[in-house]
Amino acid sequence: MNCCITGLQWGDEGKGKVVDILAEKSDIVVRYAGGANAGHTVVIGDKKFALHLMPSGAVRPDIFCVIANGLVVDPECLIEEIQMLADNGIDLQSRLMISENAHMVLDYHKREDQLREDSLGKNKIGTTIRGIGPCYADKIGRSYAIRMGDLNDLARLEKKLEKTTAYKNKLFGALYGAEPMDAAVIFKKCKIYAQKLGAFLGDTTEFLHTSIAEKKSVLFEGAQGALLDIDHGTFPFVTSSSASSLGMGPGCGVPAKMVDKFYGIIKAYTTRVGEGPFPSEQDNAIGNIIREKGNEFGTTTGRPRRCGWFDAVAVAYSAAIGSINEIALMHLDTLSGLDELKICKSYSIDGKETDFFPANSDKLSRANCTYETLETWNEDLTSVKVFEDLPQNAKDYIAAIEKLTKTPITIIGVGPKRNQTIFR
Ligand code: GDP
Ligand code: IMO
Ligand code: MG
Repeated sequence: MNCCITGLQWGDEGKGKVVDILAEKSDIVVRYAGGANAGHTVVIGDKKFALHLMPSGAVRPDIFCVIANGLVVDPECLIEEIQMLADNGIDLQSRLMISENAHMVLDYHKREDQLREDSLGKNKIGTTIRGIGPCYADKIGRSYAIRMGDLNDLARLEKKLEKTTAYKNKLFGALYGAEPMDAAVIFKKCKIYAQKLGAFLGDTTEFLHTSIAEKKSVLFEGAQGALLDIDHGTFPFVTSSSASSLGMGPGCGVPAKMVDKFYGIIKAYTTRVGEGPFPSEQDNAIGNIIREKGNEFGTTTGRPRRCGWFDAVAVAYSAAIGSINEIALMHLDTLSGLDELKICKSYSIDGKETDFFPANSDKLSRANCTYETLETWNEDLTSVKVFEDLPQNAKDYIAAIEKLTKTPITIIGVGPKRNQTIFR
């Protein structure tokens, strides 16, 4: 069975934990979009792993890991991650393949990300400064793009880097008065990348099709979330990739019809990092309580996450565009003990009520939430093992989300650990 998991909000829904759990029944885990802007947490016993590029299945010793063509790979970050896993006794030498067609994030991409964000001041996007946008821009622009497969021909890569760095230096000098970068320094690093990553490069599309034909079970791991999708999210406050499940096909060359089940991952409330509209945001005491209880600080940047009520309009939209079959609802435990509990069930925009999410930041920033108020519960949920043992008000909360999003909730998270998970 092949499954795909994607976030249905603005990222950080708990994808890492769900992938780790579902990986138990998989042979291969594939990352197909994004880059080191992602931060996926897997907790095993008292060990916590934060993965940025490596599929979250990596922590299980028998899983084959694929970094497919749709990613922008920062080789420095990937090498550090492989080393960090090795330091924890997790060896990837014979079970990792990186697409030769994935694009490479280099120093000038991270530099541009920083320069551009700084120059925008209060109009910034609030990116992770991981060079994501500039690298995807080079991919779409084609002429100055560098792919992982370029590490296979260092002489040709040296020439490409000279041309590209000269171009970037002109641009950054003129636009930002930035100091020039040295192509030789970047090339020197690339020689190390070739040495450390060269053996992992391959044709991941061929590998995946062959594996699926052999009835291997593949788990596709989305990064970010549908509301950060470049086309279907809250543009321009999005990431630069197709972060909804629609990005899976282009991101790894496997069509959606080969996937048996699409899981959407949600948090029992809403969070967002970076700028952009967030109708159900609680920039107040409630938001602060959720942030503290849920430990809502960025896995990649450490930034405090903006917190708010669950937005069913947004999630119903993400579930619809993502052909989501089932939902995994995480962080239900975080809502225990609140004084009030609300779900946004529709928006009022320019005096009109709607329950269809507008993927348009201008329109969305004028949306006022219409809330449904639910009964709270005080019980600690972190050791609940079966659905029947949840407090009735928590069950009613789940039922309300299922009704509004028109999607069944089959996995419930009551804590960060593997065994803090309820299956229905
Ligand atoms: P991802 O980017 O979607 O993989 O999510 P992150 O790892 O960035 O953020 C999710 C955070 O919530 C991590 O710290 C997880 O360990 C934690 N987490 C996941 N599921 C649960 C849950 O059900 N309850 C609680 N309290 N924490 C959870
Ligand atoms: P995971 O996979 C939450 C957000 C950034 C910023 C916007 C653009 O852990 O859910 P970028 O660096 O991609 O150009 O930033 O997207 N963002 C995320 N927010 N979780 C993520 O990944 C994110 N990846 C990017 O905060 O608002
Ligand atoms: Mg994250």
